[in-house]
Amino acid sequence: MIRIRPARACDAPLLPEIERSAGEAFRQWTGLEWIADDNVQSEERHRALIAHGIALVADLEGCGIAAFLNGEATPDALHIWQVAVHRDQHRRGIGRMLMEAAQHHAADHGVYSLTLTTFRDVPWNEPYYRRLGFITLDGENLGPRLSAVLDAEEQSGLPTAQRCAMRKTF
Ligand SMILES: CC(C)(COP(=O)(O)OP(=O)(O)OC[C@H]1O[C@@H](n2cnc3c(N)ncnc32)[C@H](O)[C@@H]1OP(=O)(O)O)[C@@H](O)C(=O)NCCC(=O)NCCS
Repeated sequence: MIRIRPARACDAPLLPEIERSAGEAFRQWTGLEWIADDNVQSEERHRALIAHGIALVADLEGCGIAAFLNGEATPDALHIWQVAVHRDQHRRGIGRMLMEAAQHHAADHGVYSLTLTTFRDVPWNEPYYRRLGFITLDGENLGPRLSAVLDAEEQSGLPTAQRCAMRKTF
């Protein structure tokens, strides 16, 4: 059984390793293999998002926590900072369940939009989110907040031409 529940502070030490494991998916994607060895969100960052943002985990009966999603409320959307599923549990619908739970959380708080940034064209990134109902934002649709997120990613070394911002409105 897979249970999606709010993350607790005591979950935080487990989450960086889940993101590292999830990132192994990129080893199979030519040009982005290095993402598998890139920095992940720190335990402190997880604690902050658990305390002040939205933070959900997928708790699997008999296995423990196998995935997380976190984000923050913004004036126009719930922005998702990260979603990661342990590589042993990919393609079981856990990512979709986390996104649906985030959408319910947003709606419960009177917010009817999710945003995120991700890699263009990678099957488990932009095309995956498109299947979940997101659209890719370009040009003037981007807006200052998401432009700033993409700029910050560029500063941190992510290849900006391969990044995009997406929004789902419901
Ligand atoms: C993105 C991620 C969270 C999705 O989690 P998940 O639980 O596997 O997602 P779901 O089971 O809901 O859907 C998986 C879908 O992604 C796509 N996908 C995943 N891995 C894929 C692969 N290796 N090749 C092709 N498509 C793939 C498929 O569309 C798949 O659906 P299908 O199994 O029905 O074909 C997970 O792949 C992950 O942790 N990736 C690494 C970290 C990452 O990229 N996070 C997102 C940052 S924006």
